[in-house]
Amino acid sequence: MNALYRDLNRLVRRIEAEDRAKVDADPRRLRFHLMPPVGWMNDPNGLCWYKGNYHVFYQYGPFDPDGGVKFWGHWTSPDMLHWTQQPVPLCPDQQWNLHGVYSGSALVEDDALYLYYTGSVKFAGDYDFINNGRASSTALAVTTDGIHVDSNQVLLENKDYPADLSCHVRDPKVWKQDGRYYMVLGARTKDSVGEVLVYESQDKLNWTHINTIKTPEPFGYMWECPDLFCVDGQYILSVSPQGVSRQGNRYQNIYTCGYFPLYGDFRGEYTLGDYIESDVGFDYYAPQSFEAPDGRRIVIGWMGMPDADYTNPTAAENGWQHGMSVPREIHWNGTRITALPVQELDALHTNHRSFSVEGTAVKLELDNGADIQITNEGKELRVAFGEDAAVVWTDGLLTLSLGERCGYGRTTRVAEVEKLVDMRILMDTSSLEIFINGGEQVMTTRFYPKQADSLTLEGVCKAEVYDMDAIQLDYMK
Ligand code: FRU
Repeated sequence: MNALYRDLNRLVRRIEAEDRAKVDADPRRLRFHLMPPVGWMNDPNGLCWYKGNYHVFYQYGPFDPDGGVKFWGHWTSPDMLHWTQQPVPLCPDQQWNLHGVYSGSALVEDDALYLYYTGSVKFAGDYDFINNGRASSTALAVTTDGIHVDSNQVLLENKDYPADLSCHVRDPKVWKQDGRYYMVLGARTKDSVGEVLVYESQDKLNWTHINTIKTPEPFGYMWECPDLFCVDGQYILSVSPQGVSRQGNRYQNIYTCGYFPLYGDFRGEYTLGDYIESDVGFDYYAPQSFEAPDGRRIVIGWMGMPDADYTNPTAAENGWQHGMSVPREIHWNGTRITALPVQELDALHTNHRSFSVEGTAVKLELDNGADIQITNEGKELRVAFGEDAAVVWTDGLLTLSLGERCGYGRTTRVAEVEKLVDMRILMDTSSLEIFINGGEQVMTTRFYPKQADSLTLEGVCKAEVYDMDAIQLDYMK
């Protein structure tokens, strides 16, 4: 442990001790979603199952609820219900990560946990920080107890990436397959085209660039946080592209996040199927997947959106911002990925109520969070939360509307839903996750209702409604 790590760690502990009361006092703090102890959270990193625990590392800005320099934060859990805060495993304490320990992933092998990440440095001077002035190194930290890092080293620097790339190369996702190791890296070319680099290694340390995956026509200027995996026999390339402009109801956010089915071989000849958005709400980005010990492929996304023009009042008022989506189990249904909350969350259900709605509106009280499972039988459906937020399905469109008082700049998002069979909504104190038709489409958003203590259902449907207990968070003492 170097002196900078030791002192930064102490500072993080101190700011957490000082600011936690303010965060805890916030009635809008999330009850069954992971959020930062204090300050800022973005991308999930290093998701894995290791030595009897799920590990959720994440981009953590403990000193600044509006961002700041990025550390890795760390939560562990044996069951995705009881979470323990662990010390920050990675601090900006090395020459190659001084201005941010950026996103990355975990590989579990031989009793050790290998954390691949991007070290970010911005040089002082008058640079554009796209083609010059910035270093993005691919680095590896290793831990054998899953908590404390034993070694930390650079594997690839900008000069090692293909020559046509800008300085923006980051977010390694690493896995083992056929006795080899593979890594995908998100990249922006000097011509501002987003793509994914594929690397191969035999020893986890030395990496060779073997392929580049891109669309025939440019699709955005930068692809962040790539993930490449096989689910139910289908290869998927998941990316978070920046610079894709809105087209009607597609790409409604400043940055999109979605996936291409990948046919052929990611190491050689491949074709990409059509891009499908993973989420069409306001706040979902940089998702990462991992394999649970029972073989399920689980995805967690950042419940936030970088550079959006809407805001979260918690930053200024209570010193924290953002959270994670619930863990979602994904499948390939032949044409799309479906995503639904992991079944573990059913253990949080209390106060079950069943309804049949037939034409007249039904109103019920909610208590700080709910799991609302609706089977639709009508031609239109309206679900309203208090006075301010509503989800309406009519004429092939499902529209999420947030009033001024709760949206903080968020207004409407639309999903194209020809036929609505079912809809499941997880409502936390300040978030909604809407799973449409078995999770074929998802809309995730933050919202800040003054009173989301009532739910109104209008249409012809059946609904099972549960209150939700909170997950348990054990903070470091
Ligand atoms: C995506 C991202 C990543 C980067 C990280 C920095 O939200 O921009 O590309 O590694 O956040 O926090």
